[in-house]
This record gives sequence, C-alpha cells and structure tokens, in this order.
Amino acid sequence: MNGVPAPDRYVPDHYWEDRARRFAAQGSGLAAVCSYGMPEFYNRMIHWSQYLALRPWLDIEPGTRVLDVGCGVGRWSSLLAQRGGVVTGMDLSPTMIAEAQRRAEVKGVASRCRFLVQDLAQLDAGEAFDLIVGVTVLQHILDPKALRSAVQRMADHLAPGGRMVLLEAAPATIAEHCDTTVFRARQRHVYLDLFKQTGFELRAISGVDPAPFKTWLLPHLRGLPRALGMSALAGVTLLSTPIDVLFGRFAVQRSWHAVFVLQRTGDDHAA
Ligand SMILES: C[S@@+](CC[C@H](N)C(=O)[O-])C[C@H]1O[C@@H](n2cnc3c(N)ncnc32)[C@H](O)[C@@H]1O
Repeated sequence: MNGVPAPDRYVPDHYWEDRARRFAAQGSGLAAVCSYGMPEFYNRMIHWSQYLALRPWLDIEPGTRVLDVGCGVGRWSSLLAQRGGVVTGMDLSPTMIAEAQRRAEVKGVASRCRFLVQDLAQLDAGEAFDLIVGVTVLQHILDPKALRSAVQRMADHLAPGGRMVLLEAAPATIAEHCDTTVFRARQRHVYLDLFKQTGFELRAISGVDPAPFKTWLLPHLRGLPRALGMSALAGVTLLSTPIDVLFGRFAVQRSWHAVFVLQRTGDDHAA
C-alpha cells in the first residue's frame, strides 16, 4: 500500500464513510483513522507519537464523563473507558461508529460507552462532559463556518471545570505543502485565535512530532515507484521514531501537530 490519494472533491460524510468501509475493520483500523491506506508500520509510528503526546492528559478518575469527538474506530474512546471513563464517542461515519462499538465490545468496555452518528458542527450529545477529546478531526473540517460551529458546540458541551484536549496538525509557521482537498495544516495561531473567540483559554500546549521527514516525503510519495516509495517510508519511520518519541512533547515550536489543552475562560479549575 502506498496510501490512497485525496479525491478531487471533498464531501465529508461520503469520504469518511468510504474510508471506514475500506479500512476500519482491518487489523488495528489505523489505516482508516491515521494516514489513509498507509502501511501498518507507518501508522503505528503515528499512533505512538500521538499516544505519548496525549498521555499526560488521559489520566482520568473513574466516572469521568468523556466525549470523544470524531472518534473513528474508537481507539481513544476504548482506552478512556478502560480507565473508568463513561464515554460518548461521536463521528460522522456510521461505519466508523459501528466499528468503534464492536471494538469496545471486544475490549469488554461497551457498557461504559455509547456511540453516536453526528456532525460535530451540529453536535448535540444531550449532556455536559468533564473531558472532551478530539484527535485529528478539526484539520479535516475545511469550511470555516463549520469549523467555528464545531468548536462552539464543543464549548457548549464542556461542564464547569472541564477540560478539552485537541491534537491537530498545527505547524507554528505557514506550511501548506501537505494540504489536500481533505486536509488543512492550519497555522497554529489560527486555532489559538478561534479558541479564544469561542470562549476558551489555553492552559497548556505540547508538541507531538518534531521530526520533519514525513512531511518532506508525503507530498512526493505517490509519484515514486512502489518499491522506492516503501523504502523511503521505512527510512522516514526509522529516522522519525526516536526523535518523536524522545522529544515530541517538548519540541513544541518544531512539531507539525500540537496538543491544545483548553478550559472555558474564567474557569479557575487547574488543568
Ligand atoms: C483522522 S480520523 C481520526 C479518528 C480518531 N479521532 C482517532 O484519532 O483515531 C478523523 C475522524 O473524524 C471524523 N470526522 C470528520 N469530520 C467530522 C465531522 N464534521 N463531524 C464528526 N466527525 C467527523 C471522521 O469520520 C474520522 O473518523
């Protein structure tokens, strides 16, 4: 597999449903929710860099009410339910949601999970949450009005003293070379401005993946012969993994993705 190219036209619910039907049930499901259709070793690297960056914020008390927005196959929903969270996962794609439910059952945590098919821009979960988690979701909401509405709906679902943790592609400087019809690497300040405008205060920010090699390679990958592409991808994975694992969280300025830890403005509960 050399990945699946982005379509000429992005219709979000069709696109994500198609992606889910192709890959959500396969193995770990990471080819549906990380880098689309890419090999397992590459997506495992992405998963681990994300996990290490999120880990300090996923340490929850039993009974914590958690909302996992754009939950995909439910990798964070199940993890948080295993830690005692009472989890609502929501996603645009019915097949992602069915797969998240199936995986929660396999892990024995289905009784602490419920899953909803919804558009984040019109989120209505019917309750407030102590923790809202979103991993690589906003970067795929390209319409500015829908993006703003998505962040506002999350703000409206955060309980007093609650925390929101978002991991998104958000380079510190302008970097458009990986943008596609389905993905936007917005400059970090764009998110920070939006969070402020929608009533959030930034409590912490950390990095994820400062190694630059994958963003150098990805725009050229599909133009390479398959064997060469795979060798380059393996090389990038080998070079990036130790850098991202050791320095990912701390090299904030150099990181391609960022973890934003947010609370409602005026909420003095420590994050
Ligand atoms: C890159 S995947 C990440 C999935 C999951 N957060 C994870 O980390 O495994 C993005 C997910 O966001 C969902 N998504 C995209 N746009 C959405 C929207 N407007 N409302 C709800 N979910 C959306 C997709 O269906 C997909 O499952």
